[in-house]
Amino acid sequence: LFVDAGNLFSDERFVAGQLPAWVQTKNRWIVKAGSEFQLDAANVSHYDLPYMSQLLAKDGYDKRVSEFPFLKKLVSANTVPLNSDLEPPPAYVVREITLKRPGPERVVRFGIVGLTELKPIGASDRIQDYAGFRIEDPFLAAKRVIPELRKRVDFVVVLAYMTQDQAQRLATENPDIDAVIGGRQVGDRGELQQFNRTAIVYADNQTKHLGELRFYLNEDGSVKTRNNRFVPLDDFIPDDASAAQVVSAAHTEFTSEQSQDITQSTPATNGGFIPSVDSPFAGVDTCVTCHSREYAIWKKTGHSHAMATLESRSQQFDTDCVRCHVVGYEMGGFQTLNMTPHLANVQCEACHGPGRDHAQSPAKGYGALSTPAGCMQCHTKTNSPEFNFETYWPRVKH
Ligand code: HEC
Ligand code: HEC
Ligand code: HEC
Ligand code: HEC
Repeated sequence: LFVDAGNLFSDERFVAGQLPAWVQTKNRWIVKAGSEFQLDAANVSHYDLPYMSQLLAKDGYDKRVSEFPFLKKLVSANTVPLNSDLEPPPAYVVREITLKRPGPERVVRFGIVGLTELKPIGASDRIQDYAGFRIEDPFLAAKRVIPELRKRVDFVVVLAYMTQDQAQRLATENPDIDAVIGGRQVGDRGELQQFNRTAIVYADNQTKHLGELRFYLNEDGSVKTRNNRFVPLDDFIPDDASAAQVVSAAHTEFTSEQSQDITQSTPATNGGFIPSVDSPFAGVDTCVTCHSREYAIWKKTGHSHAMATLESRSQQFDTDCVRCHVVGYEMGGFQTLNMTPHLANVQCEACHGPGRDHAQSPAKGYGALSTPAGCMQCHTKTNSPEFNFETYWPRVKH
């Protein structure tokens, strides 16, 4: 069974009231790919709701489903449409597998339930109503749905977009669950945890690994052992030809759409971008006029061609990538390659902070950087596993 634990779709810049065009495009390709790659079930997280409210609109729903069978694989036991224009997602799906061993061939039934945490707003607040849906308390929803499902299936699997603490609470309160597959970025993939009969595992983020959870059964159908592993999706695993084709077609469409000048579009469709004259960032072409020595050193480092790295993979418009390969993303700095080409790459101000004021009236005191914390905003465990300030700093020191 092939499942996704949630957060398939992006809700980036939904703050501006609707999803901007490039987010729509990206999400549409996820739906296409989900249909093509034959997922058995996909959980709905709060991030998915803005796009879900388009996918599940009753108007045109049947046509959408026949085009994208994947829509029938979305499960959620605790998101409920706030109005009758939306098709509610099912709480769970049931899938059957024919076991050849041990013992005589037989059919095993799996119930796969979806649950999400509430939508976080800021540091500590959470809301229930978001993008046309109410997110019910996941623990109450679990108690309502799981005992009923238990009667119909041999195995209950919960796809849970929530913290590890919450997943543990779910397992403790619902002893009928056989496996919780967690999908909220935990940074560290961790080991399988066992709570009575429930196994808890977490998916890795950014599709860097394929998680695999195996159950080995005794002849009487009871569980003998279970284990999980992560298969790195690196260059040693060759791309599947048909999957590679989907990815490449998606990149091509995305890049050509983004290459159009979005400064002409309305704030709602361009995601509320701001004109760069208001930016507190000056760009390296300004810094070089007084700091040619530092510039010459910087120019030789990987930081100065971080955008070319993305371009070579046609991902220069992918907002999941650019944030760390540019200056001041979502802080009034880089927006897109068309609008703010002068702020591409990991320039001076990516480390020293916005420098327009400093460039106008230079003085000491600007640009202090706390290391290594400042580096680790980008050099995270996932994106720079080898990072060590002692060995990295000498390579970019100026
Ligand atoms: C017009 C010239 C000028 C421009 C443009 C300029 N600086 Fe400076 N910068 C200076 C001077 C002069 C000092 C040193 C002041 C001193 O040592 O008294 C300085 C100091 C610094 C310092 C060290 C601060 C300290 O307390 O020692 C950093 C970091 C810095 N600049 C970064 C930048 C960056 C990044 C940019 C581009 C956004 C930039 N500068 C643009 C003139 C400039
Ligand atoms: C804004 C995000 C960001 C910050 C902040 C940042 N880096 Fe990087 N760094 C990158 C990216 C992206 C690359 C990969 C560039 C490429 O080759 O495309 C990189 C690459 C590097 C490399 C390898 C490239 C080379 O030239 O050797 C070193 C070393 C490095 N960074 C050190 C540091 C250190 C030290 C700090 C803190 C003082 C730091 N970085 C801060 C994003 C960042
Ligand atoms: C959280 C910040 C961050 C994000 C998000 C990010 N990167 Fe990076 N990327 C880095 C850093 C830091 C490095 C340097 C790693 C090192 O050398 O240790 C890097 C290095 C790379 C490199 C290797 C550069 C080289 O030639 O050595 C590639 C390729 C790359 N990133 C592509 C991507 C793509 C594609 C995405 C989007 C799917 C992405 N990155 C998203 C921070 C990030
Ligand atoms: C990867 C992060 C990073 C980038 C990119 C970066 N710097 Fe720095 N810079 C630092 C750090 C860290 C220090 C050392 C601060 C310290 O030792 O207190 C520093 C020091 C400096 C200093 C002070 C040197 C001194 O003698 O005190 C200046 C000036 C400066 N940088 C300018 C620049 C300019 C101009 C650029 C772009 C061409 C740039 N930096 C790019 C991280 C960076």
